Amino acid sequence: MSKKIIAPSLLASDFANLQRDIEMVNQSEADWFHLDIMDGVFVPNISFGMPVVKAIAKHAKKTLDMHLMIIDPNRYIKTFADLGVHNLTVHYEACPHLHRTLQAIKAEGMKAGVAMNPHTSIHLLEDIIQEVDIVNLMSVNPGFGGQSFIEHTYKKVTDLKNLIQQKNSNALIEIDGGVNATNAKKLVDTGVDILVAGNFVFSSKNPIQTIKDLKEEIA
Ligand code: DX5
Ligand code: ZN
Repeated sequence: MSKKIIAPSLLASDFANLQRDIEMVNQSEADWFHLDIMDGVFVPNISFGMPVVKAIAKHAKKTLDMHLMIIDPNRYIKTFADLGVHNLTVHYEACPHLHRTLQAIKAEGMKAGVAMNPHTSIHLLEDIIQEVDIVNLMSVNPGFGGQSFIEHTYKKVTDLKNLIQQKNSNALIEIDGGVNATNAKKLVDTGVDILVAGNFVFSSKNPIQTIKDLKEEIA
């Protein structure tokens, strides 16, 4: 895939002005909306749930890329499909029956993603990579926005890229956490297809321009 994707994470948006921030993303050069769902069990934080996702889906005009940081995500696959989610990513560490979970996501018409914590080796994907549409490599420990990028992620991108090629998989590589103008180009050059960016976009003075600059940086 040649076109690189920018997915602003609404976790870093102003929830009191959510519609305004959604419209900003709609009007920007961003490609997807990244939605972080946290349950306070799999990760030590709670973000937002179904009513908020419903409100987001009503206004968002781009692909909804959902990242579930929850235990037992199987319970909510149909709910999120019905809410209009396009990509549903579950955590490797939260899925004892990952193959079944991915099939269930695809059966609902969504793209199926697998997220991996920083300590989880990509070699664990060897027997499942052909079933995966998106691999989200966490470049911070999941649970909070605004953390520093973990440098070891580059090595994981290289290993994952090799695995994808070796297994003839179509999986896209997504990086999530601490993405900014300093690491974006190197990540894409290493083989990344999708960059999630939260604080870097929403804490900037002019988010539309920040997204435009990021796009140009990785073009
Ligand atoms: C972290 C979330 C990320 C987060 C990224 O648990 O999965 O998507 O919102 O935010 P930044 O870009 O601020 O690290
Ligand atoms: Zn995320």
